[in-house]
Amino acid sequence: MPLVYQSPGTRACVVDPPLVLAPMAGITDGTYRLLLRRMGGVGLVTMEFVSSEGLTRGNRRTERLLRWEPEERPLSIQIYGADATRMAEAARRVEEEAVDVCDINMGCPANKILKGCAGAGLMRDLGRAKGIIEACRRALPTTPLTVKFRAGITEETLNFVELGRICEGEGVAAVALHPRTAKQMYTGRADWSRIARLKEAVRIPVVGNGDVESPEDVPRMLRETGCDAVMIGRATMKNPWIFRQAADLLAGRPYRVATLEERRDVILQHFRLIREAEEDIPKRMMGKLKTFTGWYTHGVPRGTELRRRIQSLPSPEAFLEAVESFFALRIDERDGHVSPPEVPDRSPASPFLA
Ligand SMILES: Cc1cc2nc3c(=O)[nH]c(=O)nc-3n(C[C@H](O)[C@H](O)[C@H](O)COP(=O)(O)O)c2cc1C
Repeated sequence: MPLVYQSPGTRACVVDPPLVLAPMAGITDGTYRLLLRRMGGVGLVTMEFVSSEGLTRGNRRTERLLRWEPEERPLSIQIYGADATRMAEAARRVEEEAVDVCDINMGCPANKILKGCAGAGLMRDLGRAKGIIEACRRALPTTPLTVKFRAGITEETLNFVELGRICEGEGVAAVALHPRTAKQMYTGRADWSRIARLKEAVRIPVVGNGDVESPEDVPRMLRETGCDAVMIGRATMKNPWIFRQAADLLAGRPYRVATLEERRDVILQHFRLIREAEEDIPKRMMGKLKTFTGWYTHGVPRGTELRRRIQSLPSPEAFLEAVESFFALRIDERDGHVSPPEVPDRSPASPFLA
């Protein structure tokens, strides 16, 4: 049976397969969400978190974050903030957008957010958290509401089960748990047994998150925790095929590892999406191109050469040429054609294309 997110009285959102792209600030922008959606295997994509303050005060940068395409659906918009009235206003704005899910961030461990009592800071004050959930539910008559949180602020103050029960009582459609504490940030390991404890404590769907690194980890997390869906964040950057691969495993099929051609094509596709979105801002565009090419060439023979080379490229056109020539050489090598001698990695501009 497919997983359905639904708060009382709202539309239903079918999450099929039960695989969710984790919200990641600075990463899960429109181009990234579209790219992953087109690759297949993802049941729900999530926007990077959006500030309720920025959203309700007409901040231009925040408005820009809110852009989305129908092709991304099902899509969740995540909001954060510490004030129930503002959060309800932001939720109303999400309701107007008519996306599939509105998510509240109660897990961000960044100091700036914690100090303002937003994100994981709300786990210090569950009364305030409850007030925010209540206010947002009222502001979302047709959109399912979900909440994403951590295990607690510290090991001594674990309260994820309590927060999960509050969510259930307030008509939240599903909860997602990243079972590190806020204090841990990203150190140590995510303790999946906490996901299992939450699943036992509530009847609403529980989405497990944290340290899923391979497609095989997905059925393992489902099996070990009993959770209803798996949310993946960082692993998608090195392996954007992970959802498709995990979906194959869940359907009882073996999965395929991406070929050099597929890796090249994903870089070129992401390039085109960024060019469409950032046409007006070449500097920002070059920054993004360098970042994501770094991710997608992990594990590619001589990938370091390309990563080094693109650091000094002046324009998107030069970038495009560098990527295409790099992959042409690698494909030739793989197919047994003569390969050029390896260029020593001495300078940042070490020109494998020269
Ligand atoms: C760069 C980065 C940005 C993130 N931004 C958000 C965010 O905006 N909202 C949120 O709820 N979690 C955010 N997270 C946390 C992830 O959603 C996820 O919970 C965490 O990375 C653990 O999952 P993973 O091990 O699959 O990466 C972020 C994580 C990273 C690495």
